[in-house]
Amino acid sequence: MLELFAPLAGHFAAVETAMAAALSDDEPRITGLIADLGRFHGKMLRPALTLLMADACSGATNLHHRLAAAVELIHTATLIHDDLIDDAVQRRNQPTAHVRFGNTTSVLLGDYFYTRAFHLVANLPESLAPLNARHRLMQRLTETTNAVCRGELHQQLTARNQDLSEAEYDRIIYAKTAALCELSSEFGASGGTPTQVACAAAYGRACGMAFQIVDDCLDLSGDAEKIGKTLTTDLERGRMTLPVLRALAATPATERREFFQRIAADIAWGRTEIERRGGIASALDTARIHVRTATDALAAFPSGSARDRLHQLASFITSRDR
Ligand code: IPE
Ligand code: IPE
Ligand code: MG
Ligand code: MG
Repeated sequence: MLELFAPLAGHFAAVETAMAAALSDDEPRITGLIADLGRFHGKMLRPALTLLMADACSGATNLHHRLAAAVELIHTATLIHDDLIDDAVQRRNQPTAHVRFGNTTSVLLGDYFYTRAFHLVANLPESLAPLNARHRLMQRLTETTNAVCRGELHQQLTARNQDLSEAEYDRIIYAKTAALCELSSEFGASGGTPTQVACAAAYGRACGMAFQIVDDCLDLSGDAEKIGKTLTTDLERGRMTLPVLRALAATPATERREFFQRIAADIAWGRTEIERRGGIASALDTARIHVRTATDALAAFPSGSARDRLHQLASFITSRDR
């Protein structure tokens, strides 16, 4: 667990229990498959957003544990499908699901995770969320899950498009990553004032934008051992990530096509060259701007240790190496 999340250990245990309950099945072969996945755990960033934000509002409750479990289930489903699409072999320091169980089983397993998350929120007990509240939570969960799917689809449709604008890149990463971080934080503010809900959403959205930009940089410059997942898949798939766009912008217009073709032909050269042309440093500057937007949104919450931890979480995003 990240040191920053150590104070959340008790809450994380409750989230894990809610996830296990949501995934339980009375069909032994399915139970066996879920058991085979084992402790398929990552950093728990999205549950942390929910729980820390809940602490900054009125305190984390059973409702927040279940909502955190739902967002982490959605996130895990997207990773299972994303690894198959990216043909990545390592995730969370383990072989990816499609390597272990095959492509067909992984598609179905991802679907199983998505639908269990929906079931979890749709069937929250009345004591935790009355019908109206439940309806609103479901609306947000389903529209956000759709945003993730749209983002991945949009990214696929723009692969190898050298003319992709930064505005379109922003829309892609908002949809595929920041929307779920926004929701995780917003769910944490359930029970807060309308201003707090809006500021929690703004905080989570900006953290998510920074998070994906840093992830795009780590894909080029990170240490796969530390990160525990396959890297350089973005270059291999022709993804127009921010460091690539910035390196292209730093290249004379007449040389861009050749530069881009050479990156595709020689990934190792491309990694070094994108960094040499300032693509990574420039993208990280933009990630830091998003982090400032996130921390500005925290003014709506009372000062104290919960708000301090939200500040630390935002700073961790741009200093992380995993
Ligand atoms: C990976 O997310 C996918 C992205 C949105 C970049 P995380 O880096 O949060 O993955 P885990 O949950 O820690 O494995
Ligand atoms: C994935 O983005 C975002 C999802 C919504 C799954 P990436 O493709 O960059 O995530 P990683 O690098 O494989 O974790
Ligand atoms: Mg991927
Ligand atoms: Mg990535």
